[in-house]
Amino acid sequence: MKKWGTAAVFGAMVVFLLAAASARQAAVAQQTAQPAVATSGRTADPMRPTSGFDGEIQRHAEQMIDEGRRIFRYDTFGDEAFWGDQLKLHQAIVGQKLGGVGPGVSPKMALSVGLKVDADALPPALAEQLKAGKVDLDDPASTVALLKANAVVGVTAFLNADGTARAMGVQCALCHSTVDDAVAPGIGHRLDGWPNRDLDVGAIVALAPNLKPYTDLLGVDDAGVRGVLKSWGPGKYDAELNQDGKAKGPKDRSGATLLPAAFGLAGVNLHTYSGWGSVTYWNAYVANTQMHGKGTFFDPRLDDKGKFPIAAKAGYANVRNTPDLITAKLAALQFYQLAIPAPKPPAGSFNAEAAQRGEGVFGGQAKCATCHVPPLFTEPGWSMHKPAEIGIDDFQADRSPDKRYRTTPLRGLFTRMKGGFYHDGRFPTLAAVVDHYNDHMKLNLSAQQKTDLIEYLKSL
Ligand code: HEC
Ligand code: HEC
Repeated sequence: MKKWGTAAVFGAMVVFLLAAASARQAAVAQQTAQPAVATSGRTADPMRPTSGFDGEIQRHAEQMIDEGRRIFRYDTFGDEAFWGDQLKLHQAIVGQKLGGVGPGVSPKMALSVGLKVDADALPPALAEQLKAGKVDLDDPASTVALLKANAVVGVTAFLNADGTARAMGVQCALCHSTVDDAVAPGIGHRLDGWPNRDLDVGAIVALAPNLKPYTDLLGVDDAGVRGVLKSWGPGKYDAELNQDGKAKGPKDRSGATLLPAAFGLAGVNLHTYSGWGSVTYWNAYVANTQMHGKGTFFDPRLDDKGKFPIAAKAGYANVRNTPDLITAKLAALQFYQLAIPAPKPPAGSFNAEAAQRGEGVFGGQAKCATCHVPPLFTEPGWSMHKPAEIGIDDFQADRSPDKRYRTTPLRGLFTRMKGGFYHDGRFPTLAAVVDHYNDHMKLNLSAQQKTDLIEYLKSL
């Protein structure tokens, strides 16, 4: 065994030296302006350096991903002071019997409002019981067991020594991760970046015994706030309500937007449906002003009393907390999100032949690719459009600093088939989206072209 080990080490060294030599050759080849030599597929890959500053970059990238994943999934940024201490949401979840208030939230209820269970976090005994149907899914005590195992995606309970809940906090993963249902519906392996279109954020927040922080801020009574929260529905949240106080859009629709994908964002300049800023801008915005974590946030655009009366009153344009539990996490958090690829649609979920024809329509007669530029499927540059360009109302655009809509990157559309399309889900199907463009842009697409285009969209 030992001999083989030595031989293997020696072999690896030879391979390494050969690879290093070929890397030098590649470098020389590049210097002499010859075509670059492909270096992938070799055993000791010079593209994955381990020494010098190159090695430092490589290790840094790996650390940032690990750290960013941890933050995205588990960091509450101190927001338990809001969701727990102020709203007392944990009390409603554990219920009266376990030291809280009301009937409590059973796992069945939790799953029905779209909360997801991370099967990999379950202690083996609990996983076994769950598989065998031996966990009482109607008992809030089972929810507490899941929370103790840190298995509820995006929710952390802070427990006292005697097992009762002291507070709870939320994480990015609450809205921006789901699970693959490998164990049961709502229970499986995490899928970070996939929007949780089952999650009814409003219904969950409306469980909170104390909504005074919202009633004070918005100047609306308790029943009014609960009414607004319940008007959102599954897969939606309103990330601007506590800046402008606008709960309703045109035709009495709620002002909430769909939870967007948080994958496939590398190379995309502006984020959110109305392009508030970069990924890291938005992360600071959400962590401070939406999750109510404790950090630092600066955006003087929110000081506009006419446009953002609530933000101006609350001082969201300039948030300072000591200690700051957010700023030091922004770099890794951004890095992780940019590392999440758009998932590929499962085989058989679209007609490949039709999709191929649809690609031609997308880039040709339908003019889609003028804005959704492949392979990013948004414009490189300032990817913002006036509402009239895409033929919709200006309500949500006007709630943002630039009063425009950002071209949505289209990859991984298959993960967001629930809840409709466009920022507020106004088009229930891709067919409705295509019909809208066909009318608005006078594209004159045939029925065949339309179905091909839809298959192409499903293939992205
Ligand atoms: C309560 C649900 C919720 C939570 C928690 C949440 N987000 Fe979001 N996120 C949203 C919604 C809704 C939008 C769309 C907002 C808009 O367009 O106005 C959004 C937008 C985004 C976008 C922009 C995506 C795109 O296509 O441009 C990113 C990135 C993002 N969130 C990351 C995060 C991170 C990181 C965290 C944790 C710090 C977080 N979110 C916490 C609901 C949430
Ligand atoms: C003028 C630029 C422009 C053109 C041309 C354009 N789009 Fe869009 N597209 C946008 C913008 C901006 C949005 C975001 C709208 C919103 O969220 O309200 C969008 C959103 C979408 C969405 C919804 C994505 C989601 O997750 O909700 C789909 C699907 C889509 N476009 C497909 C197409 C197709 C197909 C074409 C060609 C027929 C096309 N687009 C042409 C700018 C454009």
